[in-house]
Order: sequence, then structure tokens, then C-alpha cells
Amino acid sequence: MNILITGANGQLGNEMRILSSSYPKHAYFFTDVEELDITDANAVRAYVETNAIELIVNCAAYTNVDKAEEDEATAMKINADALSVLGSQGIKVIHVSTDYVFSGDEHVPCRESDPVAPRTAYGRTKYEGEKRLLAVCPEAVILRTAWLYSEFGNNFVKTMIRLGKEKEQLGVVFDQIGTPTYAADLAQAIFTVIESNVWRPGVYHFTNEGVCSWYDFTLAIHELAGIVTCRVRPILSEEYTYKTPRPHYSVLDKSKFKKTFGVTIPHWKASLERCVKLLNS
Ligand SMILES: NC(=O)c1ccc[n+]([C@@H]2O[C@H](COP(=O)([O-])OP(=O)(O)OC[C@H]3O[C@@H](n4cnc5c(N)ncnc54)[C@H](OP(=O)(O)O)[C@@H]3O)[C@@H](O)[C@H]2O)c1
Repeated sequence: MNILITGANGQLGNEMRILSSSYPKHAYFFTDVEELDITDANAVRAYVETNAIELIVNCAAYTNVDKAEEDEATAMKINADALSVLGSQGIKVIHVSTDYVFSGDEHVPCRESDPVAPRTAYGRTKYEGEKRLLAVCPEAVILRTAWLYSEFGNNFVKTMIRLGKEKEQLGVVFDQIGTPTYAADLAQAIFTVIESNVWRPGVYHFTNEGVCSWYDFTLAIHELAGIVTCRVRPILSEEYTYKTPRPHYSVLDKSKFKKTFGVTIPHWKASLERCVKLLNS
């Protein structure tokens, strides 16, 4: 297949680049905004036609949650309007969405069929993107994920390693619960979808296994990175100034993905260990 991967310079896009070498039977077209702006309908149409693209994996997004509050229009263009464009090329699309489509007030893991109630501009734009894509592309696969990190770009793991080395103590919230997800595992999930014998469209949840708070996550990051000089203190969300409200509980139920594709998913701590090893090497 000729596969277009958009947003290829981001966390997930880079992991797709690495993993694609394990699936050499496909031809890959890696693009980011400079080569192909997904909001440019004419450019997308021309790119798909010229390169005879058969599948789009959309890793491009407006991911800055705080900035999206101030500029929802731009976030909407990239996270929603562009999905109408990508979805109307008459080919399959694999798209990535977020736990932010939910309110974050839940107490049990969210299923795909649970009602959404985004509380942020980012969440609203991502949910709108899901709807726009499904409206024009019944063949679409949407993977909702959460707490993404990787060796690439800026993310919580890299920030906590840096702060752990710089500071003697650090307050990290312990009343927000979720599941850290290694972008390499999400890339593997995308290849699982691509390689499946039968194409199974729909919305799925995919994160690593297990749950933790940002505080627990930080302790694990520091332990794996060998940081012993920084004391990590558990704090409440109300002690930290957030520009945008953050979900208290955003655990996704992955049963549908595991059952449909017959896979097991690594625990977040095992995957974190793999990532920190790469960051330390
Ligand atoms: N990060 C998380 O914690 C998280 C959590 C849940 C879900 N997700 C979802 O997971 C997916 C992957 O996230 P990620 O962390 O890999 O994102 P990322 O690192 O921010 O990468 C997104 C990439 O898309 C590019 N991009 C932005 N606008 C574009 C446009 N108009 N045309 C083409 N490319 C464009 C970005 O370029 P610039 O950097 O130049 O803007 C960036 O290289 C996204 O759909 C995101 O919403 C992420």
C-alpha cells in the first residue's frame, strides 16, 4: 500500500517513521506541515492523487491545550476542518483522538460508547474532528489515546527528567489519574490495524495498561532515570496554576481494541523503562 503519514515530525509521527522499517512491504510518504498542510484541501487532493495514496495515517494535530483556549479557531481548522478534507479522498483513514473528549469526571474507565463532554477548546476541536471524519469516511479508524510521550518533541517525561536534574524538590499533582502512553506502542497499535486481515472501522481506545497519577508517573520517571537528588512532593491540583482545567480521571477502557485485534498491551511502567533507556543512551 502507499501510505501517507501526516504530522510526521511530531511524537507519534516519528515513532511511525521508526516502526515503518519493520513493515517494508508498504511505501511510506512522510509529511509535516511544510510538505503538506492538512488544512489545504487542494494540496491534500493533489498529493493523494499524484502519489496514488491508499491510506492516510493522520498524526498531525494542534496539540497545545493551553494555546487552543486562546485560539480555538486555529485549533478547529487543524483538528476538525482538516478531517473533512482527509476523510473525503475516497480512501481509508486512521486518525488519532484524545481522552479530552470526555469530561474527566468519571470514576471508571471510559468506553467508546460512553457520552462525551469535552471541557476544553482542545477537546471540543478533537471531538468535532472525530464527527467530521466519520461523516465523510465510514471506513475510518479512530484511536483515542492519552498522556502521550516519546523520545521526540516536548513531553512530560522529558520535562520531569530535566526538572529532576535541575531542582532539589518538585511538587506534582496526585489527584489526576490516567495512563501514560508510549507513542511507540501507539504506533504499533496503528500497524496492528493496518496489518489486520479484515478492515475494522470504528472508534477505539488505546493507551498503555495500568493507571497512575502524575505524581506516581514522576516518581517512576526519576527512579528509571537514576535521579535521586530531587524530592518529589504530592500536591493537589488546586495548588498548581493551570490555564486550562485538567481531567481528574481520564482512564480509557481498551477492551474493544484488545478483543477486536487480539492483542495484549504493555503496562505503562514497562514501556516507560524502554523510553527512558533510549533517552539515557
Ligand atoms: N500529546 C498528548 O499527550 C496526546 C494525548 C492524547 C491524544 N493525542 C493525540 O495524538 C496525536 C499525536 O500527538 P503528538 O503528541 O504526536 O502530536 P505532536 O507531537 O504535537 O505532533 C503533531 C504534528 O503535527 C504537525 N502539524 C500541525 N499542524 C499541521 C498541519 N496543518 N498540517 C500538517 N501537520 C501539522 C505539528 O507541527 P508543529 O509542531 O509545527 O505544529 C507536529 O509536527 C494527535 O492527534 C493528538 O491530538 C496526544
